[in-house]
Amino acid sequence: MFWHRFDAEVRQDDWHPFVAADYDAVRATLVSLRRPGLRFLEWGSATGVITIMADLLGFDSCGIELDSSLVDVGRELASRWRSNARFAAGSFVPMGWEWRLSGGDGRHGTIGRGPSGYLELGRALHDFDVVYAFPWMGEEPMMLDLMLCHGREDARLLLHTTQNGTRMYQGGRVV
Ligand SMILES: C[S@@+](CC[C@H](N)C(=O)[O-])C[C@H]1O[C@@H](n2cnc3c(N)ncnc32)[C@H](O)[C@@H]1O
Repeated sequence: MFWHRFDAEVRQDDWHPFVAADYDAVRATLVSLRRPGLRFLEWGSATGVITIMADLLGFDSCGIELDSSLVDVGRELASRWRSNARFAAGSFVPMGWEWRLSGGDGRHGTIGRGPSGYLELGRALHDFDVVYAFPWMGEEPMMLDLMLCHGREDARLLLHTTQNGTRMYQGGRVV
């Protein structure tokens, strides 16, 4: 319902990087990973569906989203489902990180810029056990680099793409 409203009110008039993932596919991966107390972070949490789903599956779950109107939707949805999922309005890119592909020009694709959201959460990227994102095509290397630079060595990175479904990485490699 939130997606249809957002699609009609925003996406029909303007381009927006929010396209929803295949929630069932992501849920299946989360079910396979869940353990009490594991900390989950969604990069670009949009309407919060996956962050809330992770909370309801038992993760200690947070989402960071640049578009504050979507963060409001996520909080409303969390309260409706009595979820403890927490959201921060800001960027999932920690301060100081710069993307430099060798020979590339440092463009970020659809990944927007803004003040980092970690301060509001009171947690650093390094504190999370499982990090999830739905990158646009070609943005996976950037997210892998970000995780290698600021994530914990044993943390899992889940990247959901329309081509490959949900892939799990650890230390920059598919596991
Ligand atoms: C492709 S959508 C993915 C939505 C959701 N995670 C899912 O899997 O269905 C990407 C989202 O990332 C947000 N976004 C883009 N750059 C961001 C940034 N630097 N920090 C936080 N959110 C960002 C966009 O506003 C958009 O809502």
